Amino acid sequence: MISAWHAKIGMMKSAGHVAINTLGESGTASAEEPKPDVHAGKSRAQVKILVGDSRVLLPTLPEESVQSCITSPPYWGLRDYDHPSQIGAEPSPEQYVQNLVQVFQQVRRVLKKDGTLWLNVGDGYARNGGTGNCGPNAVVGNTKKLVQRRNCKVPDCWGLKDRDLMGLPWRVAFALQADGWVLRSRITWVKKTAMPESVRNRPTNATEDIFLFSKMPTYYYDPHGVREPSGANLRNCWILGPDISGAGHPAAYPRELVRRCILLGSRPHDVILDPFGGSGTTAEVAKVLRRSAILIELNSSYANLSEKRVGSANQESLWV
Ligand SMILES: C[S@@+](CC[C@H](N)C(=O)[O-])C[C@H]1O[C@@H](n2cnc3c(N)ncnc32)[C@H](O)[C@@H]1O
Repeated sequence: MISAWHAKIGMMKSAGHVAINTLGESGTASAEEPKPDVHAGKSRAQVKILVGDSRVLLPTLPEESVQSCITSPPYWGLRDYDHPSQIGAEPSPEQYVQNLVQVFQQVRRVLKKDGTLWLNVGDGYARNGGTGNCGPNAVVGNTKKLVQRRNCKVPDCWGLKDRDLMGLPWRVAFALQADGWVLRSRITWVKKTAMPESVRNRPTNATEDIFLFSKMPTYYYDPHGVREPSGANLRNCWILGPDISGAGHPAAYPRELVRRCILLGSRPHDVILDPFGGSGTTAEVAKVLRRSAILIELNSSYANLSEKRVGSANQESLWV
């Protein structure tokens, strides 16, 4: 039986945050039981969902307690997550990169020495007030005109011109590298079903980047965790189908993407972190693969959605 409960609420409420703990594989918990410990996870998977700003909550996690961080931050200037502390709505993409460096500094602190970061970041175009109905600047889902109007002006940095592809994934990757991360791989996620774009002056976008970073030059990576169908070492080009499991969130990533990162970057019972938890895809897959997970999410309605998803996750959750 899965039981959601509110641990550490007393402590965290004073900081204006709420923690939701969801037990994973077995057992129930009550407020009287000992609080879950991110180091304890040998006997059962635990999922902890923290509601608040990652920049505030990550410093509260113990150092070297997490094996792998798998995450997808908001893309710059695309969606409005309706919170003053949201990342992605900065007036300039330079500030966005700096904010991500700040978040991932804390991630590096909480990672074990042999830990890894799997980071999916999207790109966008510098536009002169334009939005359009397709492409990274499109008015889609919960995109609000306010964010669009502010961010779709050509940003006054990097020599960007109207219609320039900003190259944000690599700008973030280089900034993290300069900050101390070891950049080990760029994986190209090829979308079997890409968002249609009615563009006539460039090819339709159908890929995104996933970067593998490590804290140290040597790190835990299981080359047998996921193989090519031929049995060869997995390549850095992942062709993935659509996945509607994150319905209710405008930007959920596919479970298969997370499954691969978890199997390559961790062992059963390890702790997986997602500082931009969204609808809880990372925690759902972690639970099924018998890992513990910590999610941080600013928006409480997405945190509640995660709680429900994690509660009903089982082996079938991965039959995408
Ligand atoms: C791209 S979505 C993540 C989607 C997630 N991978 C999934 O599969 O559902 C990014 C999330 O980061 C959250 N977010 C934005 N700024 C944040 C911040 N400062 N701290 C924590 N979460 C934040 C947003 O509310 C949004 O749900």
